[in-house]
Amino acid sequence: MQIRIGLLGCGTVGAGVVSLVRRRADRVADMTGLRPIVKTILVRDTQKDRGVSFIDERLTTSPEDILADDDIQIVVETIGGIEPKTYILEALSRGKHVVTANKDLIALHGPEILQTAAAHGVSVLFEAAVGGAIPLVGPLKENLTANEVTDLKGIINGTTNFILSQMTTRHIDFAEALQMAQELGYAEADPSSDVDGLDAARKLVILASIAFHTEVHLSDVRVEGIRHITATDVRYADEAGYVIKLLAVGRDRDGELTLAVRPTLIPKNHPLAHVSDAYNALFVRGDAAGDLMFFGRGAVVCRQRARLSAISLRSCGI
Ligand SMILES: NC(=O)c1ccc[n+]([C@@H]2O[C@H](COP(=O)([O-])OP(=O)(O)OC[C@H]3O[C@@H](n4cnc5c(N)ncnc54)[C@H](OP(=O)(O)O)[C@@H]3O)[C@@H](O)[C@H]2O)c1
Repeated sequence: MQIRIGLLGCGTVGAGVVSLVRRRADRVADMTGLRPIVKTILVRDTQKDRGVSFIDERLTTSPEDILADDDIQIVVETIGGIEPKTYILEALSRGKHVVTANKDLIALHGPEILQTAAAHGVSVLFEAAVGGAIPLVGPLKENLTANEVTDLKGIINGTTNFILSQMTTRHIDFAEALQMAQELGYAEADPSSDVDGLDAARKLVILASIAFHTEVHLSDVRVEGIRHITATDVRYADEAGYVIKLLAVGRDRDGELTLAVRPTLIPKNHPLAHVSDAYNALFVRGDAAGDLMFFGRGAVVCRQRARLSAISLRSCGI
């Protein structure tokens, strides 16, 4: 039996979804008896080159082609930002399951989205919203349920980790490292959400809500970014045996939560000190499991943009 997917957005993540679904359809069909097929894809520009060829998939600029199609059982949202909230609520209300990689939306409107899903007997999955492909939501929600999780400590923003890693290894200042991150496709043209800590704070809201079984809001998180970190700070830290990382920290002490995102000195012998470039890692402490660390690539970059930038960086001798 086929299970049809409506894809909202087809950029870096969405194009990856199209090719992955195609590559793994047989395996999923063998395992579940259901063959996933991307039926319709919502974009703004149907003529754009997306680095993936469309065979059976239909591109559209009309959301109704997905939301009103009873043949589509799953909606995968890869647009980003807050705007797709109406599409997601509409899809859930029409009895479609939703999968989203959208941390902004889940951090700000997670409870409303989950309640709408529950009211219509469908699921919302958002594993890729935090830590890219690193499984974090699943373990915290399911595998570790027998634990009282007391501590979360992580590097959950790849852009700032890349910038701080470059400042550490190349002894360059923040502005130069940010420019490199932008040229390599790790940072947006407007990098404020990353470098000011907001992206990490939103991800912490999602992780803390699940790990500590409570509703956490963005206003509960103390946030400080990395704009003010200088090459001198990084050098002094190095001489004292530390590296500087933008750390997201959540602590539960008898129901009292402390939540913060801030630049932190990490001893060089701590495993988090070795998480470099765009990699992410999350330390979890549970009363039964003890200390666990999840590690992996937190983001994918637009290959076309990165290829062009790699050429320009090579020509600069990097
Ligand atoms: N990139 C990563 O590594 C990563 C990792 C984890 C999670 N995420 C999350 O995944 C989501 C997507 O990220 P991305 O990097 O794939 O973004 P992206 O490359 O900018 O792709 C966004 C896509 O959405 C489409 N779109 C935007 N506004 C639209 C609208 N109003 N109507 C219809 N289509 C619209 C765009 O269409 P056009 O192409 O026609 O303009 C584009 O195809 C975000 O929530 C992001 O936070 C990304």
